[in-house]
Amino acid sequence: MAEILITRKVFREALDLLEKERHTTDINDTDRILPTRELIKRAGGKAGIICLLNDKIDASVMDELPSIKVISNIAVGYDNIDIAGATERGIMVTNTPGVLTETTADLAFALLVSAARKIPEADQYTRAGQFKNWQLMQEHMGVDIYGKTLGIVGMGAIGQAVARRAKKGFDMRIIYHSSSRNESAENELEAKYVAFDELLAVSDFISTHVPLTKKTEHMFSTREFKKMKHSAILINTARGPVVDEAALVEALKDGRIRGAALDVFEEEPAVHPELIKLRENVVLTPHIGSASIETRLRMATMAALNMVEALKGNRPPNLVNEAVIQRKNLSKGN
Ligand code: GLV
Repeated sequence: MAEILITRKVFREALDLLEKERHTTDINDTDRILPTRELIKRAGGKAGIICLLNDKIDASVMDELPSIKVISNIAVGYDNIDIAGATERGIMVTNTPGVLTETTADLAFALLVSAARKIPEADQYTRAGQFKNWQLMQEHMGVDIYGKTLGIVGMGAIGQAVARRAKKGFDMRIIYHSSSRNESAENELEAKYVAFDELLAVSDFISTHVPLTKKTEHMFSTREFKKMKHSAILINTARGPVVDEAALVEALKDGRIRGAALDVFEEEPAVHPELIKLRENVVLTPHIGSASIETRLRMATMAALNMVEALKGNRPPNLVNEAVIQRKNLSKGN
């Protein structure tokens, strides 16, 4: 029986799992992100926090919360949490991998299609009553997708799921760059591993699926946009800071690249004002990669189960910081 802070509304099914174990919950049932001071106040004395990707939990927050044993993030990415800091303090951190892979890949591919075929712009045009008659030289002529080259940056599970859609549904050629080779993607999809600069130079579409780290921050900036084809379209469903938005705006305005489709932003929920103005070659969605009802429900129950297992003293199924277990074992041995 423990007390848990849940930083935002979650599905009833997730609460049921916690209550079955007689845990009590304090839920922020507003739409607001809890400011740091408030988060610390509400998490004080509790054993666990179930949080979202926009709750920043760094070492200074952990220092003020000595009772916290588990942080369960309802997201696959966990760049919002200081993992080394948590490990040092013996706090287990968990995430929700796997369950959102296909849903996020669906959205990435939907963005690719939307940008290539100018769907949002054409939708606005139709609603505004501007569709007068069919023209050969139509205003919303886009570019073909089938048979083109898709460059995947970060060939993990989501990258591979996007590549599968591209290969099997659209007969695209797949090239990729990643921190390690993905033999399964190479065998299944004839995906070819290439150097990053080669990927930039030859891809018609580039889709990013890397976690946010010091290495991947601004992985796409002026230098990279200069190397891309003028006809290329960039899709980002990973993390906003992977793309330097100011440099992207310049590249789009100068016609260095054809377009971009973004589900994530550098300073969420803020969106670069110039991106908002670029209606013809930019598609924007509000970080909805995993946002299907089925997937969000699975993420919430997975986060609750991670919390339940960790509070029982077991290794939770989706432990991010394995090293915390070694530390615990070491201190038991001492
Ligand atoms: C969403 O962006 C996630 O990391 O789950």
